Amino acid sequence: MLPIRLVARLKPPHPLLAGLAAISQLFEYNFLDQDTSKTNSTYLNVNTAMSKSHKITRRSFLQCAAAAGAAAIFSPSPDRAFGYLSANERPVFATIGLRNQGWAITNKSFAFADFAALADVDANVLGANVEKTEKKQKKKPDAYNDYRKVLDRNDIDAVMIATPDHWHTKIAVEAMYAGKDVYCEKPLTLTIAEGKLIEKVVKETGRVFQVGTMQRTESGQRFLKAVALVNHGRVGTVKKVTCGINGMKASPKIPVAPVPEGLDWDMWLGPAPKVDYRSLPEMRKGYGGGVPLHSNCHYAFRNWHEYSGGKLTDWGAHHVDIACWALGASDTGPSKITPAEYTLPVEYKDGHPVVADQYNAATKFKIQVDMPNNVEMIITSEGDNGIMFEGTKGRFFVNRGKIVGKPVEDLKDNPLPDGAIEEVYGGKVSKNHTANFIEAMNSREQPISDVWTHNRMLEICHLSNIAMRLDRELKWDPEKREIIGDRQANSFLARENRKGFEINM
Ligand SMILES: NC(=O)c1ccc[n+]([C@@H]2O[C@H](COP(=O)([O-])OP(=O)(O)OC[C@H]3O[C@@H](n4cnc5c(N)ncnc54)[C@H](O)[C@@H]3O)[C@@H](O)[C@H]2O)c1
Repeated sequence: MLPIRLVARLKPPHPLLAGLAAISQLFEYNFLDQDTSKTNSTYLNVNTAMSKSHKITRRSFLQCAAAAGAAAIFSPSPDRAFGYLSANERPVFATIGLRNQGWAITNKSFAFADFAALADVDANVLGANVEKTEKKQKKKPDAYNDYRKVLDRNDIDAVMIATPDHWHTKIAVEAMYAGKDVYCEKPLTLTIAEGKLIEKVVKETGRVFQVGTMQRTESGQRFLKAVALVNHGRVGTVKKVTCGINGMKASPKIPVAPVPEGLDWDMWLGPAPKVDYRSLPEMRKGYGGGVPLHSNCHYAFRNWHEYSGGKLTDWGAHHVDIACWALGASDTGPSKITPAEYTLPVEYKDGHPVVADQYNAATKFKIQVDMPNNVEMIITSEGDNGIMFEGTKGRFFVNRGKIVGKPVEDLKDNPLPDGAIEEVYGGKVSKNHTANFIEAMNSREQPISDVWTHNRMLEICHLSNIAMRLDRELKWDPEKREIIGDRQANSFLARENRKGFEINM
């Protein structure tokens, strides 16, 4: 899946061309015979060979890597074996899933990238976003119902994925095998097994992968300051971290309803079990609005375990992430998860909801997590949304709007050393989370929200949900990434995709 712009610029006897000849044979697809005459004019005219490149699976990818010489593909060669050519050239992007967050991250990226294509399974969402994108960048992106057509295109360097969570892993893995770098929204996965798979494929393909936990880059650097305060001992030894992530409201009974015109419901469900579309007439207002307030589809999918993990993964993915980062626990995990208090809005049997017509994720909760170094983590629906760090010398609170507490006030007389924020971030803080992704695409290093640290902290959120669903404490082995001595609980670490929607490996 080399951008034909790149092939056009390579002159024989460039070593990459020899590799490409070998790849061409393996893929039964001739990269070198493409019509490259249009490549420098406008990406909208690029000719693609769709059906053929669907053959790029793990097996053919590995053969390809061997044939072309893995180093030529994985290393940041000056000619950039996969991807755009130089820091001065704008990368070509496509967004998959556009309604709410998909547009937000696309809109944030026009400063750095051109969007050649958009994909959404809702024709109304797709049409509206094609219009908005054309207005912004003065070029009309191509529109697809089926994301695989985006992956087939040779001119697209990276995809941004903002579908509901149950689609993330399948699309991300297939995108990596199709030679795309990936920006995927949080929570990255529906299960812990999916996280392990993504890690494996990132390693295998050498793709750059950013998770959409933008608190690491944005929010006025408040969260970076929080991590720096902890790192510099301003609360002393950390004893307790409280992540306030709010609860959610239970729903009324949501009846089966006609599928809205333009929505491809089967493709929306994708890997999730086949069920009827459900909704009530009342519309959601404000953030994420313009869709039914109660449904099993747009925006409301968060409240169903079939598609997401409720608040635990929706907001846990943000605040538990920062908490683990500050604790230096990004490459390990908890030893015990206790569901101290919680309310599930429907009855559960053997870890599964017994009804199909109401939201089923926890509405209230207080989860106690035993973290390394005797730190207690609390994840709670009570109190302010944000994170409280408490240590032997003091405590402070941080959220997207403020960072407050004595250690913060003390900065007036005793500021953090120069470079403390950059030390946390690993260099100059990027303009935004997309800019950081593009910088990483350039350097071929992993960006600030890498999949490994994300998965580690998301394990805490997934385990919290499993603990509530099974109504018992779980002991976790962070090395083996297994629940200790609980076969039933371990069976919740993975899920089977619906037939026909298996991940293309
Ligand atoms: N980083 C953040 O702060 C942040 C904020 C909001 C949402 N998110 C995340 O973004 C994701 C989407 O959330 P949302 O609020 O935008 O949801 P949404 O329901 O409003 O939008 C999802 C869109 O994906 C489309 N879609 C579904 N399946 C698809 C497929 N197979 N191919 C293409 N399009 C498909 C839907 O039609 C819809 O337009 C979630 O994972 C959510 O957690 C992150």
